[in-house]
Order: sequence, then structure tokens, then C-alpha cells
Amino acid sequence: MVHIDWLGRAVTQTSTLHPYIPGKPVETLLREKGLDRAVKLASNENPYGSSPKAIAAIKKAATEVHRYPDGDATQLKTSLAAFHAVAADQILIGNGSNEVLELLIRTFAGPGDEVVYARRGFIVYALAAQAAGATGIAVPESDGLTHNLDAMAAAVTDQTKIVCIANPNNPTGTLHDNKAIQTFLDSLPRDVIVIVDEAYYEFVADQLGDSVQNLSHPGLVISRTFSKAYGLAGCRVGYAVANHTIIGLANRFREPFNINLLAQAAAVAALDDREWVMEHVAKTLAERDRLETALQSMGISGGHSFANFVLLRHTQSSAILQGLENHGIIPRPLAPYGMADYLRISVGTAGENTEFLRILETIVPHVDETE
Ligand SMILES: Cc1ncc(COP(=O)(O)O)c(C=O)c1O
Repeated sequence: MVHIDWLGRAVTQTSTLHPYIPGKPVETLLREKGLDRAVKLASNENPYGSSPKAIAAIKKAATEVHRYPDGDATQLKTSLAAFHAVAADQILIGNGSNEVLELLIRTFAGPGDEVVYARRGFIVYALAAQAAGATGIAVPESDGLTHNLDAMAAAVTDQTKIVCIANPNNPTGTLHDNKAIQTFLDSLPRDVIVIVDEAYYEFVADQLGDSVQNLSHPGLVISRTFSKAYGLAGCRVGYAVANHTIIGLANRFREPFNINLLAQAAAVAALDDREWVMEHVAKTLAERDRLETALQSMGISGGHSFANFVLLRHTQSSAILQGLENHGIIPRPLAPYGMADYLRISVGTAGENTEFLRILETIVPHVDETE
């Protein structure tokens, strides 16, 4: 029996929260349009799948699913600790890096505190800050796309508990080198938590080098994910590396069994098959450059992206979105980021990208005429 008074209060408290809007699932588009095939280029997943070793590990672990998983994800933590040359108690594992971000924000910020992020930074920072009751401070980019690190540092006050940057950023695809990030870290107070979200790290690993070893600040937290280059978005595994005090505190907010048994097995195997990951990263980077060149030649590129997606910019982006969806291609509209002219297109397989460009070339001249 629901007590209406209580429910009324809960609804009032949460009604200003906005849910995260994910990419449209293939099944939804098929149903909406009566299509029998669609290609999702909306969530920056790995279009090639995941390492065969990860799939084999999931199959093997499937016989154990009647048991609870290891609540501490010991094997995965041990593997990640060895991979990053840090201690196991410096690693926090989450149900996707999304959970890691939320745990950190919930742990270190609450009512009266401020969380600083870029206006077009990954939207989860704003949502998680709001859900924690903290005040989000969105700092405008100098060029509309690139985090303005000087302005972000200047936005830090005595109330600031957390600063979040995404490098590369989603959805703008922009990147700062680690020299710039270290200068930024040096300009911040010692007692703020600084989350450097490296969900797309593998696509810039050559340029950035080893951030975990090279960046330093007492409150530094570097987050990574198995959802993008590792191809395990459906398993939901992400993690953060920081000093053990920060990790220990965030761990207290964690659910006991937040990483399921199949996900733990898959992530351990995927981490071990770095060769597979980097081979497919190389394919994606080559395809990304092909897509960007094509968008540039059509005059509709939204700027260079360092991650596994490209940006399309056109005043009629909603008409292009509709046209693409009518033909079974699912891009990501960026209106929630105040970027109504933009669509974000995840880099697909070579065949998917060719199909996307073929359809796009039939749509764009048509919407151009209606301008
Ligand atoms: C910058 C960034 N951080 C974090 C995430 C969260 O990913 P996941 O929860 O799948 O690890 C995403 C997903 O799109 C992202 O783009």
C-alpha cells in the first residue's frame, strides 16, 4: 500500500531530475519504422564485437551463474592493478564507468557543494551532481567545443568538491594533451577531487601516454571503461584509479555485488587480449578519418574528433536525423548538450560506414534545398 503523502514528497524532490537519454535501440527503430534491419551508430560501441577470449570466458562462466559473483571482483582488480602498476586498493570497479562517476560524486559532493564541469562535457556529471543534491557549475567552452581549462580552474571556489573533465570528451571529441592536463591539475587546490574521465583512452593512447603513471594530484581519479574499445558495453564494467583513501570512501557507497559474474570474467579476459583491442582500435581510427574526410567534402563536418565517433553539423540536422532513421541508420542527436545543429555518428564497420555515407549523400542535397 503506497502512502500518498510520502509519494507526493518523493515526486516533488525528484521531479527536477532529468533521466539520461541513451541512443535509440535497434529494436525500437525497427518497430517505429517497420524496417527489418537497422544499424546503430549512436552509442560509441565497438562495432567489431569483443575479443573471442572474452566471449569464451563468458560462456565458461555461464555454468556458475547460480552463484553470487565475487563482491570484491578480486581477480579483475588484481589484473587491473598489474596492468596499471598500482595497488589493488587503488581501484574502484563499477557497473560501467557511469556507476563509478556516480559513486564518486555521491561520495564527495552533497547539498551546499559545487561540482565543476564543462558545459558540453559528458552529461552524466551534471545529472549525478544534481542527483547528489550538489550544485553543478557548467563552464562554457572557449570555442564552443573544447573544455576551457583556465576558466574551469577559475570557477573553483571554496565550495567546490569535484571537478570533472572528459579527455577525450563525449560528445565534442576534443582532447588536451597530458602536459595541459597536468598544468590544469597544478592550478587546482590540493583538496578537490579531480575526475579525469578517459572512457575513450584507447583511441588516444599513443598521443596521451600513460596517464595513470604520469599525471599527479592528491585528488586525481582516472576513470576508464570496458564499454568502448574493449567491446563490452553490454556487460557494464568500468573502473577508476586513485589513491586508496579516495577509493576506500567511494567503495562504502558501492552495492555489494555491483559487477556481475559474467562481466567480471569477460573483463579479465578482454584486458588480457590487448592485441585484439588495439588491432580494432586501429581499424576504427582509419574508418573515423574516412568518415571525417567525407563529411568535410560535403561541407558538414562538425570538427575533428579524437574518439570513435564523428560530428556532423548542419542547420537541418533534425531532417537529416529523420532521413537516416527512415533508412535504418541511428545517429545520436546532440540537442541535450545545446548542440541542436549537430549529430554524433559512432564509427561503424567499413560496410556500415559506407552505407551511412551512401544514404547521407541522398539526404543532404534534399534538405539543402529546403533551407
Ligand atoms: C565520456 C564518457 N564517460 C563515461 C561513459 C560511461 O560509459 P560506461 O558506463 O558504459 O562505462 C561514457 C559513455 O558514453 C562516456 O562517453
